[in-house]
Amino acid sequence: MKSKSVMLLLLLTVPLMASAQTVTKAKTIDQLAAMFDSARCKQCHAEIYGQWEKSHHARPLMGVAGGLMLTPLVKSSAFQVKSPKDATLRTFPCFKCHLPQAVAYAEDSLAVELTQALFTASDKDAPDVDKAAAKAKVAKLQITCIVCHNEMAITHKLVLGSPEKDVIYGSKDMATHGDPSEKVFTKGKKSAILSQAVFCGQCHGTGPNYEFDYPVQCATLYGSYQHNYLSKGGFQTCQECHMKKVGGIADHLFPPNWNDKASTSKMLSENISLDVQTLGYQSLRKAGALTPMIVVNTMILNKAGHRIPDG
Ligand code: HEC
Ligand code: HEC
Ligand code: HEC
Ligand code: HEC
Ligand code: HEC
Repeated sequence: MKSKSVMLLLLLTVPLMASAQTVTKAKTIDQLAAMFDSARCKQCHAEIYGQWEKSHHARPLMGVAGGLMLTPLVKSSAFQVKSPKDATLRTFPCFKCHLPQAVAYAEDSLAVELTQALFTASDKDAPDVDKAAAKAKVAKLQITCIVCHNEMAITHKLVLGSPEKDVIYGSKDMATHGDPSEKVFTKGKKSAILSQAVFCGQCHGTGPNYEFDYPVQCATLYGSYQHNYLSKGGFQTCQECHMKKVGGIADHLFPPNWNDKASTSKMLSENISLDVQTLGYQSLRKAGALTPMIVVNTMILNKAGHRIPDG
């Protein structure tokens, strides 16, 4: 009798222990979106939320002007799949930077659902309502407040440990943090990297990403910043140029915003100057043979902290 009840106890505790150790993973797009949903941050950080909503970070899988850039990936690249059901997380090396939370917190079924949405959105014969619904699904996958202020806030994890579940990482320690309705992010801690360029470098790239079976190269701007800006005496951080304080708050719009042509060309004209000097003359190589010649001196000055354009 006694040994039987011990056995029963063991059987009961083993699955419990196993479930306590595994990270809950999202099976669907809705589940992952809910895990990182930052809508409630709006209540108290309305201005920042409004800026973020218009930023590229809020639409990382939508491409410029809504041209779903993952469609060619699944249809005609080395990562292409015949049918959406063949997709796995490995189909999307892009998640490393465009949706880092998917790497740690999503199951392959999310990749299948996303691929299905990409197929539907690009299917000529699909009804417009279905296409719109598929696009809206992709749009739910964002680099939200929680991705930056929790998931990406610690990069030296070997020494500092992983981000804690109930902590919002900011630029100072806070004994308590708002967010009371959800009782989730109740504490605030200082992130060692949030105000440093290395924070952005986690996604803004140094070169080819060799860890994939088929290396991909996208953003390499952080490499350019390190090798061609800092080394020549540049001393500003990404945050100082791209998150200038607006009304005392660090701007979360992160310009340039490619969908806003007017503000982008203003930013470009302020920061890239083109100085052209020309001299026209005629060269007399031999009697009667005047050849028109021109000397052009161009000077392009780039005030950005890296090459432009990137990628
Ligand atoms: C109920 C209100 C409330 C909600 C909801 C809320 N916050 Fe806050 N948050 C605050 C207050 C108050 C501070 C402290 C401001 C201060 O001391 O400057 C703060 C501070 C912060 C800071 C640190 C600012 C710094 O100076 O370093 C960050 C980052 C932050 N919140 C992010 C978030 C995110 C992300 C969410 C959503 C998950 C969120 N907050 C939800 C009220 C709230
Ligand atoms: C190393 C991180 C990283 C990886 C991996 C990565 N990207 Fe990017 N990607 C970025 C960043 C950061 C930007 C925006 C900044 C820039 O272009 O310099 C960007 C921009 C883009 C853009 C231009 C859209 C825009 O708004 O600027 C496209 C298209 C794109 N990526 C597609 C992909 C695809 C497809 C993959 C996967 C095959 C991929 N990227 C993998 C980081 C990455
Ligand atoms: C791409 C990463 C990223 C995202 C997304 C992001 N933040 Fe931030 N946030 C930062 C960085 C970096 C700083 C520090 C800026 C600095 O040091 O100048 C910051 C600073 C802050 C601060 C301190 C305010 C200040 O003026 O210094 C608050 C509050 C905040 N963020 C809230 C939010 C909320 C709310 C959201 C979502 C609506 C959000 N952040 C989304 C990177 C991000
Ligand atoms: C979690 C990864 C991640 C982090 C951290 C991050 N970014 Fe980005 N950022 C991206 C991606 C991905 C895009 C492109 C989204 C798209 O396709 O439109 C982007 C877009 C941008 C853009 C718009 C221009 C463009 O080409 O799309 C700027 C500017 C920018 N980021 C600056 C920063 C700065 C400054 C920081 C640090 C304070 C930072 N980012 C942190 C991933 C990140
Ligand atoms: C000295 C100021 C300065 C610094 C430092 C700086 N940037 Fe920029 N950045 C600019 C300017 C100016 C532009 C050009 C704006 C435009 O294209 O309209 C730009 C453009 C960009 C773009 C768009 C790239 C493209 O393809 O045109 C991204 C993304 C970006 N910066 C991210 C970063 C990141 C990440 C860092 C830090 C590693 C950083 N920047 C450091 C000033 C700066």
